[in-house]
Amino acid sequence: CKRIGILTSGGDCSGLNAAIRAVVHCACGKGWEVLGIRQATLGLMARPPQSLKLEIDQVDSLLTSGGTMLGTTNKGDPFAFPMPDGSICDRSEQIIAGYHQLGLDALIGIGGDGSLAILRHLAQKGGINLVGIPKTIDNDIGITEHAIGFDTAVNIATEALDRLQFTAASHSRVMILEVMGRDAGHIAIAAGIAGGADVILIPEIPYTIDHICSQIKQRQDQGKNYCLIIVSEAVRTQDGETLTMTNRLGQCRYGGIGQYLADQLCERIGVETRVTVLGHIQRGGTASPRDRLVAAAFGVAAVNLIEEGKYDYMVTWQNRQVLSVPIAEAIAQYRAVNPDDTLVKTARGLGIYLGD
Ligand code: F6P
Repeated sequence: CKRIGILTSGGDCSGLNAAIRAVVHCACGKGWEVLGIRQATLGLMARPPQSLKLEIDQVDSLLTSGGTMLGTTNKGDPFAFPMPDGSICDRSEQIIAGYHQLGLDALIGIGGDGSLAILRHLAQKGGINLVGIPKTIDNDIGITEHAIGFDTAVNIATEALDRLQFTAASHSRVMILEVMGRDAGHIAIAAGIAGGADVILIPEIPYTIDHICSQIKQRQDQGKNYCLIIVSEAVRTQDGETLTMTNRLGQCRYGGIGQYLADQLCERIGVETRVTVLGHIQRGGTASPRDRLVAAAFGVAAVNLIEEGKYDYMVTWQNRQVLSVPIAEAIAQYRAVNPDDTLVKTARGLGIYLGD
């Protein structure tokens, strides 16, 4: 009989609760005890460590709920943790001690590449038996074809394009949809193709405003009165600048490229343009069936890895199978959109402008 911990770390996404549910079902089925750690490493840092015992009854209704029942955080690296007085402090020892105080045999960390790298660093330093489950709407973690949350985000962005198409056509407008994805264009290219975009702009492939203008004009010449553009948040301006937005707390994230493009297009060819920034809607709400499926398979596979004593591994989806790879290997291979990807060829084959 084992006692295992589970935590969700970094930005939330749809499908996290489905993964927690799967872990609890599988582990409790083996007669193990599962402790949910609240708010990622902050829960292990707290004294007493913040956790709750998870039973099947408690998680059974979670399959369709968004967010994470455990809470999460992306507030800094525990090895250089920002303190309220502005100083930086190494809190790793407290987190490691929290894991041991809870008497855990192993820890399942559900996170993106940044969170998994931090958890691995903690595990190496403090003898934590770690197994990773990849999640991120950005789908940029190496080796695995799917990360939990990506499919739902693509569905939401696709639906946004579907809806924008009607209003664009009614008003003869250029509609720009700005989507998340951090430095990778996976959401934009997948939703752009599925949602019938005329222009897809991703950080991995450079573009010119002149070519976007030509695409709009070409459509006008064909009698098409509107144009749908989808742009990833980290696409640069023509001056090579990555635009960011900062809130009053000084927190910064990508944003603003959609409005920049709208201004450029209006200035150059006088088209009427509107911008929609999809934002965190891409991370909220019920997970798609595929994300639930991936979450279920990953949850079960992670528990099985613990049973085999195969630590420091991350579960992956490769060629229709759930496999596992060393966490270090996965995080070392950042997965951007490759210019030779099938989806790039598909977009080009459809006559979509995707950059040069
Ligand atoms: O990594 C997931 C993600 O949603 C990115 O696509 C986006 O750039 C970022 O997180 C937003 O982070 P926050 O929730 O801190 O605004």
